[in-house]
Amino acid sequence: MTNIIIVGTQFGDEGKGKFIDLLAKRADYIARYQGGANAGHTIVINGEQFIFHLIPSGILHKKKKCVIGNGLVVDPQTLLEEIENLKKRGISVEGRLFISENAHIVMPYHKLLDRVSELARKGKKIGTTGRGIGPCYTDKIARTGIRVADLIDEKTFQKKLKKILDEKNQLLRKIYHQKEFSYRKILTEYSSYGRKIKRYVTNTSLLINRAMDKGKSVLFEGAQGTFLDIDWGTYPYVTSSHPVVGGALTGLGVGPTRIDRVIGVAKVYTTRVGEGPLPTEFPKRLGERVREKGKEYGATTGRPRRCGWIDLVLLRSAIQINGLDSLILTKLDVFDKLEEIKICTHYRYRGKRMDYFPNSLKVLSQCQPQYEVLKGWQESISGIESYKKLPPTAKKYVKRIKKLLGIKIALISVGPQRDQTIILDKTLC
Ligand code: IMP
Repeated sequence: MTNIIIVGTQFGDEGKGKFIDLLAKRADYIARYQGGANAGHTIVINGEQFIFHLIPSGILHKKKKCVIGNGLVVDPQTLLEEIENLKKRGISVEGRLFISENAHIVMPYHKLLDRVSELARKGKKIGTTGRGIGPCYTDKIARTGIRVADLIDEKTFQKKLKKILDEKNQLLRKIYHQKEFSYRKILTEYSSYGRKIKRYVTNTSLLINRAMDKGKSVLFEGAQGTFLDIDWGTYPYVTSSHPVVGGALTGLGVGPTRIDRVIGVAKVYTTRVGEGPLPTEFPKRLGERVREKGKEYGATTGRPRRCGWIDLVLLRSAIQINGLDSLILTKLDVFDKLEEIKICTHYRYRGKRMDYFPNSLKVLSQCQPQYEVLKGWQESISGIESYKKLPPTAKKYVKRIKKLLGIKIALISVGPQRDQTIILDKTLC
């Protein structure tokens, strides 16, 4: 029995989906702990691509149980579409998908508010995914949100919706000059969603804790990444939840003593979608080259991702904030054709060395990334299955990252397929 938390160490899109799928083999439960349909976890199996926004990536393993924790904001329409799509591809979620009663519901006014408030920010956009995430978490914290338990109880839903919709309609009309939502229409549509998801709803904290009591293993699936965290990210260019390790505990109702390992996932370069700082961003031409080779387009919005060199300042901080015991490196093959590869080892700020990520964006804007330059391997490594067989220059790159960060490397990904993985830590898969 091993309970493992998987955390994104950068700005999301580190390739967590592939590893959740891979590690799911040894788990009994795969449980997501935060975020919503802003996430897009891509998995490729036998050349077939699956993208999940809400359902945990472990669902492709037929006997595994999947949990949507209380820390999520659930768009029931997207969720039902995902269930339906899986069904069409011969995968049933019946008896193995569980949704927390305490998760919050993303309502249509959240999605509209997300879009209009972004427009109102003019030059100061966050670049959100437009999935209603921020406005839904805002209601959660303001204690006015609608939870899954409310949605599946028609009377409660009617009452809550009436009250909150009056307020949202006023906001939309008076501040954002938008048309009001019809109470009847939302009530009919969302009550029907409530009826459809009811059979999956349960006390997921109890479910997971009881399973762990019986010796079952849980894999905790994070979405987004450490530097999109509402507290630890590049605020305000962040999402509204806690992708960091703490979010796994509050987002599923599990205590820290239950956790055996915390593993971070990092791309061998850095990407970011949306606005906000990216200190090691590539010059334009190199950025385009890496984006094409790495297929760096958002799985949720299709937006091109900005790309840059690996940033050990970010990773050092992610190791600390999350208490990581090891790291999974992804997309090493994307560098196959590069003549030289850079590692950002630290920043310089006002003439001094900086090893950890500054909390102030003002300080960050005055930091200069410092690089070590290594030779590229300039051959294809996507078919290589063992670390020993990697070209010496690729091994040198991995070793350098390991040494400079002082952390074990557990797995290395050299392609999107399950088997394009170099396994260093045999206890994992
Ligand atoms: P929101 O989560 O839609 O509110 O977006 C806030 C910021 O987080 C934006 O910069 C998004 O592009 C970014 N973001 C949200 N989810 C993801 C993700 O799954 N991968 C990468 N970036 C994300």
